Amino acid sequence: MLLSGLRGLSERRILFFGGKGGVGKTTCASATALAASRRGKRVLLVSTDPAHSTSDIFETAFGPAEKEILPGLSGLEIDVDLELRRYVDRVKEQIAKVFSQEVLRKSERQIELAASMPGAESVALFDRMTELMIDRKEVYDLIVFDTAPTGHTLRLLQSPDLLVTWVGALTKARRAMLPPVQDEPDPVLTALERRQDRLEEVRARMMSPRTTAFILVTIAERLPIEEAFRSLESLAGSGIEIGQVIVNRVLPPHAAGEFYEARIRQETVYLDEIDRRFAKLPRVRIPQLDSDIHGLATLERVSELLGC
Ligand SMILES: Nc1ncnc2c1ncn2[C@@H]1O[C@H](COP(=O)(O)OP(=O)(O)OP(=O)(O)O)[C@@H](O)[C@H]1O
Ligand SMILES: [Mg+2]
Repeated sequence: MLLSGLRGLSERRILFFGGKGGVGKTTCASATALAASRRGKRVLLVSTDPAHSTSDIFETAFGPAEKEILPGLSGLEIDVDLELRRYVDRVKEQIAKVFSQEVLRKSERQIELAASMPGAESVALFDRMTELMIDRKEVYDLIVFDTAPTGHTLRLLQSPDLLVTWVGALTKARRAMLPPVQDEPDPVLTALERRQDRLEEVRARMMSPRTTAFILVTIAERLPIEEAFRSLESLAGSGIEIGQVIVNRVLPPHAAGEFYEARIRQETVYLDEIDRRFAKLPRVRIPQLDSDIHGLATLERVSELLGC
């Protein structure tokens, strides 16, 4: 079996941890962030899952603003509702700068409507992630994203492609509205071009294997394996490199008794299946520990097991 730890991966600048609900994303993301900070890196751990638990695992409250939890390790839990509000306010502000109050008033209802459409939250969330990946890249050596269960996250990570197309179309439409020769740069066009540049930059960062890796977390059971495999296929098309598969909660071989024997037999089948289906990727197994994971001592244990 290809065994390889996460140490090498934490030399990258951006790591995403993804996988089915409950498989150990938050645990593994937190353990990796902690280990990297202990090695002297400046690390930001970001939770994008609305059901945040990074605060719980570190037994320290942190919220929508970056906060240092330990030396070299900051944490942030993105509040999607707040980001959506901020996003809508920024759009209104830009409209107010360029157009009359009348136009603003008329467009207000449309903007509010757009903000309540499915997908609006993802745009606002991705905007915040972009801000972190671009504007904070000098402040942190490593940004670790603990993401929401897979489907949502994969759609989210594909947003730059969608947005680039969308902003491109808006830019084109705006250009067509403007007179061929202008005295002053058009503020709408400038704002759109700036947005386009940022999207291109974040896309380039996410797609560079030197900068970014996605880490798939699974357990040795049917549904999480299938979901991990779907992510593998979907990410292959997106250009984001998968750096590692973590197989979490593997039963210790010394677990005794009839019940465990049956479970271990089943698990062996799934572990083999994981080795076969993810053969091209580095894989690491984490045993089922004798307690759940919170607090620094157990997190450190997980970091060691991950080879961080
Ligand atoms: N190797 C392990 N041994 C024992 N308990 C574990 C192990 N890995 C994770 N756990 C426990 O399993 C639970 C789920 O883990 P975690 O919160 O990391 O999963 P998650 O994938 O982030 O879940 P969600 O999809 O709900 O965000 C937690 O209570 C955690 O302490
Ligand atoms: Mg989680």
